[in-house]
Amino acid sequence: MSPLGVPVHWLARAPRTADTSPPLPAVIHDRRRRPWRDLRISLTDRCNFRCSYCMPRSRFGPGHRFLPQAQLLNFEEIGQVADAALRLGVRTLRLTGGEPLLRRELPLLVRQLAGLRTPKGLAPDLALTTNGSLLATQAKALREAGLQRLTVSLDALDEDLFARMNEVGFPVAEVLRGIEAAQTAGFARIKVNMVVRQGVNDRQALPLAAHFRGSGVVLRFIEFMDTGCSDQWKRSEVLPSRTLREQLQAVWPLRKLPATRSGETAERWAYADGGGEIGFISSVSQAFCGDCTRARLTADGRLFTCLFANRGHDLRALLRNSAAGPMALQTALASIWSQRGDAYSERRDLLRLAPVVARAEMHELGG
Ligand code: GTP
Ligand code: 5AD
Ligand code: SF4
Ligand code: SF4
Repeated sequence: MSPLGVPVHWLARAPRTADTSPPLPAVIHDRRRRPWRDLRISLTDRCNFRCSYCMPRSRFGPGHRFLPQAQLLNFEEIGQVADAALRLGVRTLRLTGGEPLLRRELPLLVRQLAGLRTPKGLAPDLALTTNGSLLATQAKALREAGLQRLTVSLDALDEDLFARMNEVGFPVAEVLRGIEAAQTAGFARIKVNMVVRQGVNDRQALPLAAHFRGSGVVLRFIEFMDTGCSDQWKRSEVLPSRTLREQLQAVWPLRKLPATRSGETAERWAYADGGGEIGFISSVSQAFCGDCTRARLTADGRLFTCLFANRGHDLRALLRNSAAGPMALQTALASIWSQRGDAYSERRDLLRLAPVVARAEMHELGG
């Protein structure tokens, strides 16, 4: 076996030029017949926020060692992984972090990824998730480079609470300014993600809903998840989406919208009075592993097939192996996905009883 868990002959079989191995299928399915459709690409493990549930200051202080530059995939390597994924059926590329806007020369990468094509000649659906802190200055360049969709994380409207939650005192007003800059730059249907923690920020759900109603921005409420090892997850802090929806419905009647595609994370609802759309991401109360089509690439080139996986597959070694043939990456990706059986959220209660094994952190996997 190779370090990828792929038989060595799979990798060696591909010659440097004319490949004679049988072509790989256009869509790869895993052991539960789930196709691979989304690749989330983390560009850095660094972030300028220290959200208490993701990178608390107590653990990620000045002494914390982030990945050195040499260990990060460069833009060419990221492009190679994205290209190979598109050849295997992936349609959405989502850039994440840490905070992806901290990655130098990001518009260059966006332009490069926007220029890729699927085997049928389609451009990828190119999206990015950010904390919004640097959007005011970067939104225009990202849009011009070909970024299509944008999601901004925002957990509170109240300045004091937000400053406490991001642990660096960052102002809400600046994130809102970033969202406005993105609208001005031409991003349509921007999404805002709020992680809801009962007893911490749940009272901010209605003010945030009131703020974004009618703005064209789609607010989505995420149930607090037990990701990584450094969050301070307690089940008592999970506010089930259903309860929250009933609270919202008491103020603004809602009607359910059909899913736009299978494998969507959010259940979509619309304000009955035409105030726009909101969403609920309920991975704790209503697991959606059944049609999960997502894989995650860390900034140092490990591919994770689940947000809660204990380990990733090292693609960087393969990318930097000059003896690997032109098909080696695609073959390895196909093998990794086809062996996948992950369904953590479906089995959370059982798996949480098992001894704690170190898991990758949310800021490495990009959410
Ligand atoms: P679109 O629907 O394409 O806009 O994107 P998305 O909802 O996949 O992306 P986004 O980055 O906005 O994800 C929203 C949040 O949903 C993430 O930050 C996670 O908290 C959660 N999430 C996304 N994918 C998964 C997943 O596969 N499993 C679990 N448990 N949670 C996920
Ligand atoms: N539970 C739910 N969502 C989380 N995110 C980070 N940590 C958690 C968690 N424990 C979200 C962020 C952001 C996205 C990348 O992941 O708020 O919207
Ligand atoms: Fe940064 Fe996002 Fe983690 Fe907050 S949740 S520390 S913004 S990566
Ligand atoms: Fe997919 Fe894992 Fe999330 Fe389930 S828990 S939806 S398998 S990433």
